[in-house]
Amino acid sequence: MLRTSQIKYLTNTSIQEIHGDSNRLQQIEIGAVLFMPKTLDYVSARDNQFSYGPYLWDMLHISLKTFDVSHMFTFHREDEQPQKCSYDIICKKEPDTESEMKYGMEYSDQTFQARPLPMPHQLTLLNYSSCHFDYSVLAFNLTKNILRNVDLSRNLLTSWIGPIYNVKSLKHLDLSSNFCSNVSHYFFSEDFGSLEELHLQNNILGLVLPYDYKGKVLQNLHNLKTINLSQNKIQRLSKDFFKSQLKIERIDLSENTFESIDFDIGHLKSLKYLNLKNNRISYLSASAILQLNSIGILNKIFTIDLSQNNSLCTCETINFVQWLVTTTVRLTGKKNYTCQLSDLTLVSLENIDKLYDTLSKDCMSKIPLIVALVASVSSVLIIICSGLIYRYRWKLRYAYYMIKIRSHKKMVLVENDDDKSYMYGAFVSYADEDSTFAHKQLLTKLEKENGIILCLHKRNFLPGNDIATNITSAIHNSRRTIIIMSRNFLKSYWCMFEYNMARMESIYERGHENVLFLIFIDKIASKELPLHILELVQSQSYIEYPNDEYGDTVFWDQITQVLTS
Ligand SMILES: *[C@@H]1O[C@H](CO)[C@@H](O)[C@H](O)[C@H]1NC(C)=O
Ligand SMILES: *[C@@H]1O[C@H](CO)[C@@H](O)[C@H](O)[C@H]1NC(C)=O
Ligand SMILES: *[C@@H]1O[C@H](CO)[C@@H](O)[C@H](O)[C@H]1NC(C)=O
Ligand SMILES: *[C@@H]1O[C@H](CO)[C@@H](O)[C@H](O)[C@H]1NC(C)=O
Ligand SMILES: *[C@@H]1O[C@H](CO)[C@@H](O)[C@H](O)[C@H]1NC(C)=O
Repeated sequence: MLRTSQIKYLTNTSIQEIHGDSNRLQQIEIGAVLFMPKTLDYVSARDNQFSYGPYLWDMLHISLKTFDVSHMFTFHREDEQPQKCSYDIICKKEPDTESEMKYGMEYSDQTFQARPLPMPHQLTLLNYSSCHFDYSVLAFNLTKNILRNVDLSRNLLTSWIGPIYNVKSLKHLDLSSNFCSNVSHYFFSEDFGSLEELHLQNNILGLVLPYDYKGKVLQNLHNLKTINLSQNKIQRLSKDFFKSQLKIERIDLSENTFESIDFDIGHLKSLKYLNLKNNRISYLSASAILQLNSIGILNKIFTIDLSQNNSLCTCETINFVQWLVTTTVRLTGKKNYTCQLSDLTLVSLENIDKLYDTLSKDCMSKIPLIVALVASVSSVLIIICSGLIYRYRWKLRYAYYMIKIRSHKKMVLVENDDDKSYMYGAFVSYADEDSTFAHKQLLTKLEKENGIILCLHKRNFLPGNDIATNITSAIHNSRRTIIIMSRNFLKSYWCMFEYNMARMESIYERGHENVLFLIFIDKIASKELPLHILELVQSQSYIEYPNDEYGDTVFWDQITQVLTS
């Protein structure tokens, strides 16, 4: 313990600098600090064992500018000739109020209220590096100060929760090598507005920073010029991570595990240096290239380090290779880059221009070939398919309606056995203009006089079913289909539908048995008939309606015979 009696004679001197390194100082007697000379501005007290205590409040009254208390608690071999300290409370290890206070302050419950932390009001540099300081940094409120430079590197500050208040003059903060894996969104409070340099390298911030989607961690650091995030196991950063760093000049992201540049940097107009050395970036996306180019245009000295990244030089990444060749952005050690080709060989980018030329020729010659091949194969396929569909259009429609009918439970279907019995003797297909013939002559002669039950769409179709299903089902449930052929028939869409469906029925359901029976009621010259009807007329039976008394008798006899045979 440093006592008043030991230093009180210094008070009237004009000493400016005191070195007290490598002692075992733990505490300072209350009031002793006030005897320090007024001229003092530099104290180096490295390699001691200072702990928290009430003497810290005395610090407020001295005019110290630099305080170096780094390397505290380093391991020493046991003193072979220990100092006899008969009067020293620390040596006696008696319980006393001071040490209670010490532990009380240091390990008190983690209330959120910011604790006051005394700072000599003239202090500009505090070096608290390498102190084995194992602590989760909670909320602190520093006393009035003009601190510009704080070094807390190489401690064990594993969690930065904060917020830390009243650091309005702070320009340089070193928190590197602290094994920190947790930094809160509010650790850097709005009082960090002056901060220009932030050293965070060699921590484990890759565990938290990727999840800072809104760029909150650095949101108050408007004046930041340099940030070092090297060696942090960071795989990616969100788009908005650097959204507030409009004045930033240097970003060091080397020795992480980045695979791409996803974070926005296009807005960082002052950026001079971006270090991505030793990551896993195999190529840059189009948007990353665009952003880098836009900085490069504003800033002639903008430099990016992409070395040790296993770039890929394949047809897929040709835009990236082209960028490497043509960009005005400076690339450090471009000649030292290696690039992996599609056959997995590694080439140096020393002759990158040549490499790009060969690569682009290779890729160019393949692209049109592949496109042409794909296009021709697919057009052939399309032609074949549409040809097949056209060729079998009626069969397909017939099959579709048959499936529809079969799935319809209400329709009673009679199986197509040899001794088949159909619901109707004949389905009559006619154009609406010819309905008189169908409804009068046909109905009277066939149904009333000869008992052949007819299916007429006006009379027999089930309401509610769609017309195509009704037709298909009627044809399927009738023994024959009578076509009342006329010019009107040829013009009617639904008549042609019925005709074709009946054709399909005879081919696919009745084993080519002739289902169709044509009655010509108009005189139609054969050249007026469509080809597929003409074909049928020539190969199968048809009859012309004579419309005279004698002819009529023969006509109806013939029809009745055909329909009952
Ligand atoms: C320092 O100087 C002042 C005034 O000159 C005097 O009163 C005081 O006793 C001195 N202190 C010491 C420790 O000599
Ligand atoms: C703090 O002290 C360490 C070692 O004692 C030294 O390496 C470091 O440069 C110092 N930091 C500052 C900011 O002076
Ligand atoms: C980080 O600290 C915050 C605030 O104390 C806590 O809620 C969170 O669980 C911590 N996260 C991790 C990964 O330790
Ligand atoms: C960042 O930290 C790394 C690792 O300590 C160091 O090599 C590098 O020079 C630093 N970069 C800057 C810009 O300070
Ligand atoms: C290239 O790599 C060699 C050894 O790997 C190194 O000595 C040299 O400094 C590097 N050059 C550049 C420009 O980075």
